[in-house]
Amino acid sequence: MTVKEIFETMDYGPAPESAAEALAWLVDQGDKFGHYIDGTFTKPGKGFDSRNPATGEVLAKLTQAKQGDVDAAVSAARKAQPNWEKLGGAGRARYLYAIARLLQKHSRLFAVLESLDNGKPIRESRDIDIPLAQRHFYYHAGMAQLMEIELPDAQALGVCGQIIPWNFPLLMLAWKIAPALAMGNTVVLKPAEYTSLTALLFADICSQAGLPKGVVNIVTGDGAVGEMIVNADVDKIAFTGSTVVGRRIREATAGSGKELTLELGGKSAYVVFDDADIDSAIEGLVDAIWFNQGQVCCAGSRLLVQEGIADRFHAKLRARMDTLRIGDPLDKCIDVGAVVDPVQLQTIKGMVESNTAGRVHQAACDLPANGCYYPPTLISGLETSDPLMQEEIFGPVLVSSTFRTPEEAVELANNTRYGLAATVWTENVNLALDIAPKLVAGVVWVNATNLFDAAAGFGGVRESGFGREGGWEGLAAYTKPKGKGKPLAKIEATMGEGAPVDPIDRTAKLYIGGKQARPDGGYSKPVWGKSGLLGHVGLGNRKDIRNAVEAAAGAKGWSKTTGHLRAQILYYIGENLSARADEFAARIDAMTGKKDGAKEVEASIQRLFAAAAWADKYDGQVHGVPIRGVAIAMKESVGVIGALCADEAPLLGLVSAMAPAIAMGNRTVLVASEPYPLAATDFYQILETSDVPAGVVNILTGSHAELAKPLASHLNVDAVWSFSSTDLSKEIEVVSAGNLKRTWVNNATAFDWGVDHSRRFLQAATEVKNIWVPYGE
Ligand code: NAI
Repeated sequence: MTVKEIFETMDYGPAPESAAEALAWLVDQGDKFGHYIDGTFTKPGKGFDSRNPATGEVLAKLTQAKQGDVDAAVSAARKAQPNWEKLGGAGRARYLYAIARLLQKHSRLFAVLESLDNGKPIRESRDIDIPLAQRHFYYHAGMAQLMEIELPDAQALGVCGQIIPWNFPLLMLAWKIAPALAMGNTVVLKPAEYTSLTALLFADICSQAGLPKGVVNIVTGDGAVGEMIVNADVDKIAFTGSTVVGRRIREATAGSGKELTLELGGKSAYVVFDDADIDSAIEGLVDAIWFNQGQVCCAGSRLLVQEGIADRFHAKLRARMDTLRIGDPLDKCIDVGAVVDPVQLQTIKGMVESNTAGRVHQAACDLPANGCYYPPTLISGLETSDPLMQEEIFGPVLVSSTFRTPEEAVELANNTRYGLAATVWTENVNLALDIAPKLVAGVVWVNATNLFDAAAGFGGVRESGFGREGGWEGLAAYTKPKGKGKPLAKIEATMGEGAPVDPIDRTAKLYIGGKQARPDGGYSKPVWGKSGLLGHVGLGNRKDIRNAVEAAAGAKGWSKTTGHLRAQILYYIGENLSARADEFAARIDAMTGKKDGAKEVEASIQRLFAAAAWADKYDGQVHGVPIRGVAIAMKESVGVIGALCADEAPLLGLVSAMAPAIAMGNRTVLVASEPYPLAATDFYQILETSDVPAGVVNILTGSHAELAKPLASHLNVDAVWSFSSTDLSKEIEVVSAGNLKRTWVNNATAFDWGVDHSRRFLQAATEVKNIWVPYGE
């Protein structure tokens, strides 16, 4: 195109970015890469080609790691970890800061290499991926600096295995490595096989920064290498990628004691109300679904438009799509680049071709003759049940539907197995702030989309995974409480024979939906104390779990009550327990044969009062993100929490789990101490007189081993905790993979109930949702 033609048509001319420096860097490395282990690059071995998806050209040869490489990387990280941690926060901060500076210094090289390797427009890698990666290292340099002062009870986990996808190669690396290093961990990271080059350049940066050897190790290869890392001697796995693989990793790490965070797929709703600024909403949509060719886990891929404006909105959208420029990712004027690989291109094509519903519009653009290109596509007029409204396409394909009322918008938006992000467009601030908390998602953007920052946590709920990256909450994923736990000792029930202590037969029922309920199976078991038979309790089964979960799920209203009200009720429970303290203490002593019942009851009252105190104080935050606006980090209830309560502390264990859970608005299904269940069955009499609404607390008795599986596999349970003295960690975590519920299991370590762990419980009882609200003109 000549300058004259450009002037006459007002079209953008080509503005190519030079690839020379990035290609020269590849040549300098010999176009072949080994792994980065213990501070040096290993010799390149057998492997695979890394190609430029825009042209199909081979950029470099990468090495497929073998078991020995992964082992070497893990042992280098293990060896380096204690000294890295001992360096202290301020010492580590200097390295993180040095890395941030070097990333900045080489930002153009990184941006070009990223676009060559991944196919994303240079505009995006230059203005979003690389600056955000730098920001993560700066931000976490600060977190390292503050760790000892602000997180005095936290320590590093140890060695972290990190597996990342190909859509934001350097950015995902930064999200994983920066917080891990800041908190004193060392890492073994595997980039995705399509896009490993910026990770290898990053390794070079680590050497330039003088990072102690072994602190960062990078191994390349495909999913088989990922599996080796998952199974290696690491203390944590952090994974970002598909839900299918995330689920497999959950199963593989079950019961191992390895910490796990999963950032998985999404089908995020983009909700446009009829009073929205339509032009802005359309520009937002361009960002939501055509940013990075739609290969974004939180892509606004499901458009929901209010019916009254739907035709106008879709017409404008189609017109805007036709102006999108698609082509060479290194052209600075390009909006949409290449899809990452022919395999992904084929998946996108296959999914679109399999669809027969709705109206399909593809942008009127000339696709380059070669390379992995797919036109921006809109499929409108779909129903919720259409597969493309439910399945993640991970390509530049938007699907859309309409709604009439705000209630329907919420219902449709939440009609997905995912819960990563959502966007709301309306000029009505009341409506926006009413809808945002109702959307089941980890992130909500109001009148904006795809905003990210190191200061605001990112992550999902439901099958979008668990854990947050960024912000204070993201640090929890890379720390654990100080101190070493004692091994778990199995608590056996007292066995006995002879006449009951009390001649009247007392068989305590289960407590479900605010009512005493006979166990479905009709079985009960005796509870003995040293002095004789104390009574009987029902043996709950799978059906009882189902009934209890149903009751808990039905008590949704509890999550909407105020912290003030929940505090009142918790105080009331404490007061009523206090009135019967002697009776409870005697019961505990009778069951355990010890004399510390009174102490346990007193501690239980304290836990209830502590939870009451926290109910209206465990607040969220407003993050200082670099926009004109706010990112509100709201703490929300997790939903229905199932817990196997401690055996050794029959009242305190139950109360310590229940009180913070309900204080935060959760509903609970509690399985009582297995050997000493009568404290729990006495306790529901207290609940009955304390204004606790039906279904908020449900209490079952019976075998932990039998009840763990139905509880942990139930799809309406959102989190499951186990403090049982039977180590059921593995059984629970394997089946929790079904709906990827959060787990907190003891992994054969005893919990110290004498200490008030309220903060840990409060954290486990809440999800952080970040609501971004830009303001101003
Ligand atoms: P993937 O989940 O297979 O790959 C992500 C990473 O996990 C890569 O580094 C890969 O080598 C590794 N991996 C694969 N199998 C593994 C295993 N068994 N154990 C440990 N690590 C393993 O994603 P893939 O195949 O690249 O893309 C498939 C689909 O996944 C996409 O079409 C998209 O729907 C989704 N996806 C979602 C992402 C997100 O950010 N939520 C990112 C990438 C893909």
